[in-house]
Amino acid sequence: MSNEQHKGTAVITGASTGIGATYADRLARRGYDLILVARNGQRLDAVAARLRSETGRTVQTIVADLTKRSDLEKVEHVLRTDATVSVLVNNAGTASLAPLGTADIDKLNSEIELNIVVPTRLSHAVLPGLVSRARGAIINIASVMSQLIQPGNTVYGGTKAYLLHLSQVLNTEVGGSGVQVQAVLPGATRTEIWSNSGIDLDAAFPAEMIMEVGEMVDAALAGLDSGETVTIPSLPDTADWQRLIDARDALRPNLSRQHPASRYAVAVKA
Ligand SMILES: NC(=O)c1ccc[n+]([C@@H]2O[C@H](COP(=O)([O-])OP(=O)(O)OC[C@H]3O[C@@H](n4cnc5c(N)ncnc54)[C@H](OP(=O)(O)O)[C@@H]3O)[C@@H](O)[C@H]2O)c1
Repeated sequence: MSNEQHKGTAVITGASTGIGATYADRLARRGYDLILVARNGQRLDAVAARLRSETGRTVQTIVADLTKRSDLEKVEHVLRTDATVSVLVNNAGTASLAPLGTADIDKLNSEIELNIVVPTRLSHAVLPGLVSRARGAIINIASVMSQLIQPGNTVYGGTKAYLLHLSQVLNTEVGGSGVQVQAVLPGATRTEIWSNSGIDLDAAFPAEMIMEVGEMVDAALAGLDSGETVTIPSLPDTADWQRLIDARDALRPNLSRQHPASRYAVAVKA
């Protein structure tokens, strides 16, 4: 294999099934070696064995519960010290979709750890190496739920809004370094996350709202190839997203001022 073909190593969290396993498949076929992370060692091994035999790439696995600090630190160590790492896919995540007042608070706490703390720490661990090598990408799997203000979406949507925000700000910090940061906002995608959340996907959504996982990941990678910083695979017209960004940016001059707005009728010092 020539150096030109060697793209480095992609580290993918939550790679034992679903979106993560599909990224593993696509990135191996693009010429990346892989480090796959998840809790279920048997499923990870099955994904790794198939990809080794089908693509000839080097595929390692790390069995880790990323909500456990000692396991998380093992992955952070790899990201800090393995100079072949060129891509991090922050994909592992869970979705609890219950009203806050009746939700299991310990489950929510784990979800906040997995969906927020983990991608933050892993990005922090990989960034210095990527920037010093002036190449590579961090792909953060957020969600369209980051945009939906609806019951049951307090914490899950909040974690995904955080990941989108982190990605957008990180882009302003690494711009020009040769490192890409992409937030991917999938809509309903056919994976086990739905049954794990107690939801029958086909009963919950009409067929025209459900995307197959291969199509979702292929679109997200096409978005990465074209330099998108935010990829919404379903969205027909990216101008719709840009209007939201422009409206937000238009608020900026008025978000911090010396006196309250006049509608509050607060007596201000002359
Ligand atoms: N499917 C959708 O409709 C959809 C839409 C928008 C965004 N997303 C996001 O896409 C990402 C992947 O979701 P998916 O649909 O592919 O879910 P999935 O099929 O349930 O897969 C989740 C993956 O995360 C791993 N994982 C879960 N908890 C973990 C932990 N504590 N430590 C390490 N790995 C853990 C699971 O493996 P183990 O059980 O082996 O650990 C599995 O590989 C998530 O961040 C999700 O929020 C999904």
